[in-house]
Amino acid sequence: MSLTWTPDLDTGIAVIDDQHRRLVDYVNQLETVHSKGDLPTVGHVLDDLVDYTLSHFAFEETLLEESGYAYLKAHKRVHQLFTRRVEEYRERFKRGEDVNAEIHRLLSSWLLNHIKHDDADYVATVSPQIKDTLDEQKNAGWLARTLGRFF
Ligand SMILES: [Fe+2]
Ligand SMILES: [Fe+2]
Repeated sequence: MSLTWTPDLDTGIAVIDDQHRRLVDYVNQLETVHSKGDLPTVGHVLDDLVDYTLSHFAFEETLLEESGYAYLKAHKRVHQLFTRRVEEYRERFKRGEDVNAEIHRLLSSWLLNHIKHDDADYVATVSPQIKDTLDEQKNAGWLARTLGRFF
C-alpha cells in the first residue's frame, strides 16, 4: 500500500517538509517499480532512496547542530542505526534477494514514526533559527551552502 502524506507529518519547516515528502515519494516509487517486476529499476530507485536519505540526514544533522539542539547526539544515533539497516537491505537486494516487502515495512513504519516523533521534537528549537536566517536574508549563508552541498 502506498504511503500518503498526512498533516501530522508536517514539521512546518518548509525545507525539511520538502525533503520528507521526497523520501515518501521514493518509497512509493519503489513499490510501483517493484509491482511491475522491473528489477533493474528497483535497484536504481533503491540507490537513489539510500543516497537521498543520507543527504537528508546529513542536512538535518547540520541544521540541528547550527540550532544547538540538545538531543543531536541521540538523533544522529537513530539516523545511523536506520542507515545501517537500509544498507543491509540494499546489499541483500544486490545478492539477488527480494527484500521489497521488508524494506517497505521498515520504511513505512520507521520513516513515518521518525518524522512524526523524533523530527517533530526538534521543531521548537530549529524553527526560530530558520526564521531568523530567512528574516536576515542570509540565504547565501549556511543554509544555502548546506543545501548546495547535499542536493
Ligand atoms: Fe531525523
Ligand atoms: Fe527527517
